Amino acid sequence: MSLKGKNAVITGGAKGIGGAATRALHREGANVVILDVDSLGGKLAEELGKGALFFKCDVSRETEVRQAMEKAVETFGDLDILVNNAGIQRYSTVTETTEEEWDLVMNVNLKSAFLCAKHAIPSMLAKGKGVVINVSSVQAFITQNNVAPYTTSKTAMLGLTRSIAVDYAPNIRSVAVCPGTVDTPMLRDALQLSPDPEAVYQECVDMHLAKRICSPEEVAELIVFLASDKAPFITGQAIRIDGGLGLMVAGSKRD
Ligand SMILES: NC(=O)c1ccc[n+]([C@@H]2O[C@H](COP(=O)([O-])OP(=O)(O)OC[C@H]3O[C@@H](n4cnc5c(N)ncnc54)[C@H](O)[C@@H]3O)[C@@H](O)[C@H]2O)c1
Repeated sequence: MSLKGKNAVITGGAKGIGGAATRALHREGANVVILDVDSLGGKLAEELGKGALFFKCDVSRETEVRQAMEKAVETFGDLDILVNNAGIQRYSTVTETTEEEWDLVMNVNLKSAFLCAKHAIPSMLAKGKGVVINVSSVQAFITQNNVAPYTTSKTAMLGLTRSIAVDYAPNIRSVAVCPGTVDTPMLRDALQLSPDPEAVYQECVDMHLAKRICSPEEVAELIVFLASDKAPFITGQAIRIDGGLGLMVAGSKRD
């Protein structure tokens, strides 16, 4: 699945799913530009070496995004692949969520994808070809308690995916990737909020028909496939990678 000569921007590419996507895209020959607020992204770019760059960037801020995209184009010539992966999780219901918290989740999870697409797509259009991959979640389809802003932001990403697919076809494809539970720093931090992290981890395992959670690398392989020329007929869709999470009607299992 060669991506030789392609140029990719990965938001939140320092660690977790974004880190795995950065590694996988680079392994396939793409130049990679990591946009992240975490300077671990610099270490990853250094480790990958040639064809890997890190720009410290809060992707919820337009000025920073515009400057980062300009620098990426200056360095590599143009852009072929944008992976909108940066995201945060907060736990609250509608009545508990403050306006600031709502705005923060929307800005980091959703507005960032709009801003990055806005400033990456012109370079793709100039080249005549490009792919925008939005990392959403199964929470765009099913949800749990206490994640109102998160699940709303992830659902809206599907609308953004469709809009990009429709507005820029046939030159640009856009696809959403919707993972179930993935073993990343985000999950590990969430587990620590519980008095019994191991029990919550096991609940996560049990929710999936696969009876395990997903690795960041598995999501990264899907991103590589969707970004490649092997997937030219896939656009506007939401692809679930969730080990069958939420597939079975609750309480319907018979031994
Ligand atoms: N882990 C899961 O179970 C899971 C499941 C479904 C979807 N997702 C989604 O996958 C994506 C990646 O999640 P993860 O689990 O790897 O998370 P993570 O917390 O492990 O990594 C997220 C990365 O995004 C970066 N980031 C956060 N805010 C940023 C900002 N404003 N600007 C730039 N970078 C920023 C972080 O520094 C970090 O490097 C997120 O959008 C998340 O919602 C995760």
